[in-house]
Amino acid sequence: MEKKIEIIGVIGSGTMGIGIAQVAATNLCKVYIYDVNAEQTEKALQQLEQSLQKLAQKEKISFQEAENIYNRIHFCTELKDMKDCQLIIEAIVENKDIKTKVFQELENIVAEDCILASNTSSISITSLSAGLKFPKRFVGIHFFNPAPLMPLVEIIPGLLTQENLANQMLELMKFWKKTPVVAKDIPGFIVNRIARPYYGEALRIVEENIATPQQVDAAMKSIGNFRMGPFELMDLIGIDVNFSVTTTVYKDYFYDPKYKPSLLQQRMSEAKLLGRKTGKGFYDYSENANNPSPTEDATLYQEIFMRIISMLINEAVEAKRLKLASDEDLELAMQKGVNYPKGLLAWGQEIGYSNISQTLYNLYNLYQEERYRQSPLLQKLQ
Ligand SMILES: NC(=O)c1ccc[n+]([C@@H]2O[C@H](COP(=O)([O-])OP(=O)(O)OC[C@H]3O[C@@H](n4cnc5c(N)ncnc54)[C@H](O)[C@@H]3O)[C@@H](O)[C@H]2O)c1
Repeated sequence: MEKKIEIIGVIGSGTMGIGIAQVAATNLCKVYIYDVNAEQTEKALQQLEQSLQKLAQKEKISFQEAENIYNRIHFCTELKDMKDCQLIIEAIVENKDIKTKVFQELENIVAEDCILASNTSSISITSLSAGLKFPKRFVGIHFFNPAPLMPLVEIIPGLLTQENLANQMLELMKFWKKTPVVAKDIPGFIVNRIARPYYGEALRIVEENIATPQQVDAAMKSIGNFRMGPFELMDLIGIDVNFSVTTTVYKDYFYDPKYKPSLLQQRMSEAKLLGRKTGKGFYDYSENANNPSPTEDATLYQEIFMRIISMLINEAVEAKRLKLASDEDLELAMQKGVNYPKGLLAWGQEIGYSNISQTLYNLYNLYQEERYRQSPLLQKLQ
């Protein structure tokens, strides 16, 4: 029988790292957390303590539990403090060279059977593992934001990953009360590949002055019942993180125009208008902020909704055609990972695949761009 995994290392204490640490500590693990920026860890731990207290005040957990969860997390000032970990989940900046360097350093510190995992949204697991002495112990464990709340976890074995490791992580994530799915090691895995147009098409609509970010958000929320509009969601994810995921997916699909990044998003990253974490992105999060209300326009809202949802459904249909996951996991992934109100395949049926196809056909004719090409399966499903 495999050894129970209860000593966890988390590298990076940003948006994702601290959330993953909370999940592991809530599930009774001893957690070691490290960040190059010690101040960031201090800040993240303080915020965690406050949010655990709030959970206790709302009676979601007891005050004793809040204290226990917090006390299970240990602040490390050096990477070598991770030496006893059985599983280390890395959640640092989305940069392959920096991640590889950290994993190489870790290999000199931890035991040979310590599992190394990356929370990367878009970097190939196989390519990260290839830089290691023992690539078979390496796997992708991809949480969604916010990690304590979003049930989905994608488990991604690379080509060099030991055969049973994905299953072992699947069981661990179930034990952590998550909803795990196994994804192929393709750019963006399941969710971040299928979800790309939610951001990309929305950005394009704004760049072309068809609508404002507020209008796009209002259209997707009012017609599609999405919990957050694309721009609100990008502000939550972090504009820099979202931009770098898109850029990686675009490059890794050999510059497929479907995934082309946005110049507007690039400029906002450069200006450090990164969303909630810097206080300003598409929206202003400062105390006395005055965010404009959108001008309502039913025809425009419908056009925006159909354009974005058609692109999303086309991606889901293409993922089905390529068997990137089972139909069930494809539907589950979008609902449990990014809170979509329905599975996209079911949504396609509801709107009518012929309507989706017609919308894409019109866009293709208008722009004369391959970006709007249809999945061959979309034609068959009508
Ligand atoms: N933000 C999201 O919605 C989201 C969702 C899923 C996965 N991810 C992935 O998780 C990872 C982290 O994303 P995030 O949003 O938490 O980023 P973030 O910018 O909030 O935090 C990254 C942290 O990593 C630290 N760091 C940078 N280089 C380091 C190093 N060499 N050693 C130790 N720490 C280092 C930084 O100081 C920072 O605190 C990325 O790979 C990202 O693609 C992000």
